[in-house]
Amino acid sequence: ALPASIEALIGKMTLEEKAGQLQLNAAAWGGGVATALNPPSTGPSFDGQIADAVAGKLTGVFNGNGAEMARRMQQAVMRGSRLKIPLIFAADVIHGHRTIFPVPVAEAASFEPDLAMRTARVAAYEAAGAGIDWTFFPMVDIARDQRWGRTMEGAGEDVMLGRLFAAARVRGFQGKSLAADDAVMACIKHFAAYGAAESGLDYNIVDLSERTLREVYLPPYKAGFDAGAMSGMASFNEINGIPATGNPWLMKQVLRDEWKFPGIIVSDYTGDEEMIAAGFANDGKDAARIAFLAGVDMSMQSNLYALHVPALVREGAVPQELVDRSVRRVLAVKQQLGLFDDPFRRIDKKREKTRSRTKAALALSREAGRKAMVLLKNEGDLLPLDKNRRIALIGPFASGQHDLNGPWVVYGDNNQAVDLVTGLRNAGATNVSTTPGSGVEEPLAGGIDAAVAAAQAADIVVLAIGESEGMSGEAQSRTSITVPAPQMALAEAVAKTGKPIVVLLKNGRGLALEGAVRDAPAILVTWFLGSESGNAIADVLFGACSPSGRLPMSFPYESGQEPYHYDHKATGRPAPAGPREPYKAQWRTAPNAALYPFGHGLTYGKVGYGAITVPATMAWDGRIEIAATITNGGTRACEEVVQLYIRDRVATITRPVRELKAYRKVALAPGASEHVAFTLTREQLQFLGQDLQPTVEPGTFDVWIAPSAQADGAHGTFELVR
Ligand code: IFM
Repeated sequence: ALPASIEALIGKMTLEEKAGQLQLNAAAWGGGVATALNPPSTGPSFDGQIADAVAGKLTGVFNGNGAEMARRMQQAVMRGSRLKIPLIFAADVIHGHRTIFPVPVAEAASFEPDLAMRTARVAAYEAAGAGIDWTFFPMVDIARDQRWGRTMEGAGEDVMLGRLFAAARVRGFQGKSLAADDAVMACIKHFAAYGAAESGLDYNIVDLSERTLREVYLPPYKAGFDAGAMSGMASFNEINGIPATGNPWLMKQVLRDEWKFPGIIVSDYTGDEEMIAAGFANDGKDAARIAFLAGVDMSMQSNLYALHVPALVREGAVPQELVDRSVRRVLAVKQQLGLFDDPFRRIDKKREKTRSRTKAALALSREAGRKAMVLLKNEGDLLPLDKNRRIALIGPFASGQHDLNGPWVVYGDNNQAVDLVTGLRNAGATNVSTTPGSGVEEPLAGGIDAAVAAAQAADIVVLAIGESEGMSGEAQSRTSITVPAPQMALAEAVAKTGKPIVVLLKNGRGLALEGAVRDAPAILVTWFLGSESGNAIADVLFGACSPSGRLPMSFPYESGQEPYHYDHKATGRPAPAGPREPYKAQWRTAPNAALYPFGHGLTYGKVGYGAITVPATMAWDGRIEIAATITNGGTRACEEVVQLYIRDRVATITRPVRELKAYRKVALAPGASEHVAFTLTREQLQFLGQDLQPTVEPGTFDVWIAPSAQADGAHGTFELVR
């Protein structure tokens, strides 16, 4: 319940002031870090926005320009407005504020939700120091189609990983108490199924069965809300003909009635207005009515609620009680954030500086970077490299202050990040030459010749290629998820020199690797790692630590396999494990499998999986222990992500060929063994039956303890008996 003083405020508010509490707009003085392109100037639009805020037409602003901006606005409202309701300051703090961490999907490759919790905590500490109360994060959309650019913002294709990372990120941002001066309110987005956009095209429609929605897409949102996130964002997409922003089934039945969510729902940027173009609303007023009645408490950026909600209430199209309820929700989160006690709680220019990019934060960024990288291939133990060898660092990402932080960074600065060549030199490599060889998407005149000459003069080539920041993220859907053609030409030419090649992939999505890139003896996925990029890559490249990351999404053989996910169904004509057979579920040029599957990732150890121990039966109310001994037969320490998958062989609803049910990250010294045991309960065997209710059916289950979703590892079966 709200304190009486806040309830009393609601009694005093005009309809216009109530609508104002439901309207959030982009900051007029915005754009993050002040640079030459974004000078910290204010001007008439900022003054106008302050005047709106003082007049009660705004609940707050987002993506503004730090503590000074927030101070000016809050001060004006606390001094000059009628009811002195504090503003809320929101921002897209996605993978760090000033200290930038790996893009979220890369961080998920660590398979360490606790790491995501810690990076989110630091991001909150920095952002809250700069006046930010609310982040539009985490994005928990499952991404099974790598053509979709926003894959990089989530936790990949798997439901379990999605749930764990959603919850961890909420806990990290919100901390122990939302009122703390280093807590930032989390926002679960984009509700719902934004990642299921048809053909991977951003903003495209989603056509999805309720079963898949509930079994695959909804669980990460639920996990985020269950972890205490006090806000959610409606997604841009429609689902089965109804835009999410105008979808009462989603926001009322699922979110409020079934999940008991108490917080606020905000539209995405002009998402309400976009229902006009989608053919679901006649005009702005109609769009405001539809969104509001469907359950969107707050409108972002379109100004539709400020403009139309009062008239809609007066005309009887929107009940006054519903407006009061949404206002109450908004004031409740402002109160929980401590804003009524102290509107300046997070606004402190000194803290903005002292909390920014501390040594500890940068060390955490480096740790996260190390743990995010995934070693796809390492033929002949080419890695780790000897730093005294002559290294030709080739590719558009070899050096330079660009593409280090990655997409969706409002407040970080690439100029402050460590680039690749600097990282290698910091680590003590003295004989490193660099040459770009190619642009990212265009050839570079003379680039290939220079690169070939550099390769010839070196012992080893490190090829830093892939996607630029601008190629992944929002609205960056790709039809072909390959390394761009000019870089492929570079790779082919360099490969002809016969020098050993280590490919360092920069990417925000799963890629389809081809030609000389696919065939290189060593391939390391380095994503966009943020502030400490070069240092973290050097740590792995030279063996200061073993790589330990695992793919959170499948890398297909070919783009045309997308959408592809490891937990697909068998079909009635499954592709055989051995040689190809005609008339099976497989592509002409690719198997029904991934080139590098979900969960895959090598280490510098040599890990072997012993035989599985699994009881023959699981009693209906029992639980079983499934175990295998994992041994590092190599000469280097490593961390192995040991994964437990199941398959329900026969059920009244066909089940995926594998489902991840548990995993453990195990540290293994050279020669060490570890008995890794998992407990499995009946609840983990549950699925939605034909009536969409949770059910478990007796029968045979396959179980694997394995290093990836496609590896045999240790395999066994058990019978669930009733
Ligand atoms: O938070 C974002 C969202 O993910 C995409 N549209 C804009 C919002 C606010 O910047």
